[in-house]
Amino acid sequence: MRTLHFSAPGRLILGNGALAELPGQVKRLAAGRVLVVTDAGLVRAGIAGRCMDLLAAASIDAVLYDGVTSDPHYGVVSDALSFARRHGIAALVGVGGGSSLDVAKVVSVLVTHEAPIDALVGTDRVAGPGLPKLLAPTTAGTGSEVTPITVLSDHDAHLKKGIVSEYLYADVALIDPELAVGLPPQVTAFTGVDALCHALEAYTNKYAQPFTDALALQAMRLIGASLRRAVACGEDLTARYNMALASLYGGLCLGSVNTTAVHALAYPLGGSYDVPHGVANSLLLPYVMQFNLISNLERFRDVAVALGRPVAGLSLRAAAAQAIEAVQELCADVGIVSRMRDLGIPHEAVQPMAVAAMQVTRLLSNNPRAVRLEDAEAIYEAAW
Ligand SMILES: [Fe+2]
Repeated sequence: MRTLHFSAPGRLILGNGALAELPGQVKRLAAGRVLVVTDAGLVRAGIAGRCMDLLAAASIDAVLYDGVTSDPHYGVVSDALSFARRHGIAALVGVGGGSSLDVAKVVSVLVTHEAPIDALVGTDRVAGPGLPKLLAPTTAGTGSEVTPITVLSDHDAHLKKGIVSEYLYADVALIDPELAVGLPPQVTAFTGVDALCHALEAYTNKYAQPFTDALALQAMRLIGASLRRAVACGEDLTARYNMALASLYGGLCLGSVNTTAVHALAYPLGGSYDVPHGVANSLLLPYVMQFNLISNLERFRDVAVALGRPVAGLSLRAAAAQAIEAVQELCADVGIVSRMRDLGIPHEAVQPMAVAAMQVTRLLSNNPRAVRLEDAEAIYEAAW
């Protein structure tokens, strides 16, 4: 077993109403103007305004950048970076889904260490620490608030690219489950399945660790018990809290163990067809599980149990297969499409996407079963 290396944000604050702590935390970390990074949807939802009001009430000078798009490309980062430079900022607050948090993270280091974005892609290529950053997620899924990772779309390469650096860790991850109350059911569903993938891919990872196993199993139990409720009844604070916790646990697995072939194969779907990250993962998850099943039947049986499937009396093989059924049933219940063709992706895309996915060696190397090009093609084919 590999030696565990585990890092986390400087401070984790979790609780209903925790957003109220934002001004105090900003003042603890920085003196000067603060940049709030978010998207237009959160401005409409009033959450960006709440942040600005909280900061203003504490006499903190703040400017708002709301140009983040879903699954952001390089251009969004350049735009946010010039905005940050124009305003002479001392700290950043990322508020939103994984996209806003990822942009805030990478801008925080580009402000202090200018470099072409492509020069940062990969692991440990950021030159030094950035400005203080506080991250407040409004979805429960990406885990970006606790990871050292930013994922960006490179439109020219038709691929999503990951920047991994300890300097991307938040100084404060401020997790307030109440912020997700207004999240539409569809977004709740696919971000929740993203969290499920983080946990499931950590637990079935080639480099799985007892430390992350505990987090991953509990995340899967929480998602199995609460995702349906969070989708059906968004104002249920217990369901929202449980999903926030599951997302946090799943996110904490990403820095030290990370994901496998599900995320690797999902990257080209996002990069070429702008399929939202969680949807891309959920399309591929059952088929990658099917491919990986024989790598560790015991672990897939554990997944089935964590997701609430009865396995008593079943053979190990049959119990492990219950994990796939549990995932398919959960995705169907929360209304996630199960075929790539339903999203208008042409069949001719299968082969080039398989070629592109094979480049994501950072994640494929974690997969519990070796993935060859023909395997990737077969998985896309099954998901099509
Ligand atoms: Fe993810």
